[in-house]
Amino acid sequence: MENVRSASDVDRLAESLGPLPEAVARPVLVVVSGLPGTGKSYFCGRLAERVPLAVLESDTLRKVLFPVPAYTADESFRLFQAIHHLIERLLKKGIHLVLDATNLSERHREYLYSIADRLGVKLVLAQVEAPPETVQARLRRRLEEREGRSDADWTVYEKMKESAEAIHRQHYVVDTSRDVTPVLDKIVKEIER
Ligand SMILES: Nc1ncnc2c1ncn2[C@@H]1O[C@H](COP(=O)(O)OP(=O)(O)O)[C@@H](O)[C@H]1O
Ligand SMILES: [Mg+2]
Repeated sequence: MENVRSASDVDRLAESLGPLPEAVARPVLVVVSGLPGTGKSYFCGRLAERVPLAVLESDTLRKVLFPVPAYTADESFRLFQAIHHLIERLLKKGIHLVLDATNLSERHREYLYSIADRLGVKLVLAQVEAPPETVQARLRRRLEEREGRSDADWTVYEKMKESAEAIHRQHYVVDTSRDVTPVLDKIVKEIER
């Protein structure tokens, strides 16, 4: 039963992506990591303008499986289990992809490392960050622009900050309070190498 459910989760996520970019001989898995409001989605958008890749945004995919998300541990477990299967499926098809999720704990990133290692796929890690005062101003603005949202954002940021762990592998640091073009150039070069 469990397998049936998780297979359909993956299919639903895959369908929600729409048309995929063209397959390549050596696909790359890009993983971003960062607290809410640091600019992960902004950075992934900039990257997608430069390289034909599928963007797997966990916030969007969560709503495909759970239209009214509860952000419980069970919900996240089922979501990320499906995301991990989807990543593997797309990489096997030769699709470059970027995972846009907070990916704050090394334990969670280990799954991604092992998928890349097992498939012999290049892994590019990017830690996205911005000064706290910049993030706070962004989150406030994001909140003001959307009606009916709770004030949870900055609280969530502060709570998640406690659980953030340094990335143990080689990675790029992307500060979105500055011009991201130089580091973007380096990452694009590494993907195309
Ligand atoms: N480099 C930037 N310049 C201007 N605004 C930015 C930049 N990066 C992010 N933002 C804005 O800050 C807010 C949070 O960024 P977002 O990419 O949604 O963060 P995250 O995906 O990490 O939660 C958004 O409204 C976004 O448009
Ligand atoms: Mg985002």
